[in-house]
Amino acid sequence: MSGKWTPESWRSIVHSAVEAGWPFETFQMPTYPDPQKLQAVEDSLRGLPPLVFAGEARRLRSALAEVAEGRAFMLQGGDCAESFSEFRADSIRDTFRVILQMAIVLTFGASCPVVKVGRMAGQFAKPRSAATEMQDGQELPSYRGDMINGPDFTLQDRTPDPQRMMQVYNQSAATLNLLRAFAEGGYADLHKVHQWTLGFVNGSDQAARYQEMADRIQEALCFMDACGLTGERVPQLRKTDFYTSHEALLLPYEQALTRVDSTTGDWYCCSAHLLWIGERTRDPEGPHVEFLRGVQNPVAVKVGPGTTPDVLLRLCDILNPANEAGRLTLITRMGAEALGARLPALIRAVQREGRKVVWSCDPMHANTHKAANGYKTRCFDRILAEVRTFFAVHRAEGSHAGALHLELTGRDVTECIGGSQAITEARLGDAYHTFCDPRLNAAQSLDLAFLVAQALKEERRGQPLSGFAVGA
Ligand code: PEP
Ligand code: CO
Repeated sequence: MSGKWTPESWRSIVHSAVEAGWPFETFQMPTYPDPQKLQAVEDSLRGLPPLVFAGEARRLRSALAEVAEGRAFMLQGGDCAESFSEFRADSIRDTFRVILQMAIVLTFGASCPVVKVGRMAGQFAKPRSAATEMQDGQELPSYRGDMINGPDFTLQDRTPDPQRMMQVYNQSAATLNLLRAFAEGGYADLHKVHQWTLGFVNGSDQAARYQEMADRIQEALCFMDACGLTGERVPQLRKTDFYTSHEALLLPYEQALTRVDSTTGDWYCCSAHLLWIGERTRDPEGPHVEFLRGVQNPVAVKVGPGTTPDVLLRLCDILNPANEAGRLTLITRMGAEALGARLPALIRAVQREGRKVVWSCDPMHANTHKAANGYKTRCFDRILAEVRTFFAVHRAEGSHAGALHLELTGRDVTECIGGSQAITEARLGDAYHTFCDPRLNAAQSLDLAFLVAQALKEERRGQPLSGFAVGA
């Protein structure tokens, strides 16, 4: 890992491992049947324009430095996996809108700047626990996300096809284009705070709370207007910054979109602003860590229950050798009980060594189970319990609970159990649309935002955590 980094230095790690007898699937990447076709796609991608610019990634890094220093909060959310078939403007708008709503609840409720990041415009590749799947005596490669193969249980669909990377590039470009238009073209204007409400949330408790808050924001805006602080004078009132992120899993794609920034001479991975390494690929000696150590984007790593303080510090050394605030986010995902038991030692190790990191909580990935009727689901209460524990432990250790990493959608789905709509196991089939893991719907997302706003407010004021003590 101490060798010279190049955009393809990760390949020699894979090569040595395969020579030593490790199956290629160890690294959660597919074996393509036609290497020449793969090469041709990589060559084409290398010739295409970057999806994001280095300057934008640097701006996100500065915003995350504020989070690391305890002065801001990051909200990261979106689909578990984007798909080709569910690619629609209204889904993108609804997810953007629910993130915007949650951010305003946090900004207003806790007087805390919120950095908004979508799991969008590139989140198409999934790690899998098994390389193959058996059905009725037939064995086929597992579905690894639309970037790699198709979900149908047929040999044709499940055979990895590199051409899918081109479709990911094109869909990501179109998604980003729309997100930029929403963020900067008037949709995110604070004066429209009332219009962001999603129809199906109307009538619920949190919709009433949201309306009440929107009224107060509107009142403040009228006052500011009267003082001459209009949207023309203060652009932050009429537009917002919205960033994209995904798991950097399929390295041939990420490498092909990695470019030298002409202003600094540094390498940036221009497929998204922020890239993260998943729980299954965060081996400090593995190819994914090798790849991300050399690009200057802000990066994140998932931290599961098996992560020791030593491994965590090693990841900090490799991914953030200059110890710069904003470069590295650690996303814990352990379940409430393991988090309560293990997070204190991780925080203490990071503090002892003076490492500057953003601490984020993914309360989704350790809380997935199969319901009796076969649906893969998550209980809202367990998600809440993990978020509560995250805030409580950080408070006890004197560090900043800096971010939330969520799987959510603005659509009215029934994929997670509970929340103020009290979705039951029996209702999961009503609107279960996810391609991978179950997502919070807009109402459940707002429920969570109000709770977190309360916790953040208390953190900022140095008050005891009311609804957030462990076990509360
Ligand atoms: C994910 O974020 O969708 C994911 C697979 O997470 P993890 O790597 O934490 O399991
Ligand atoms: Co997921």
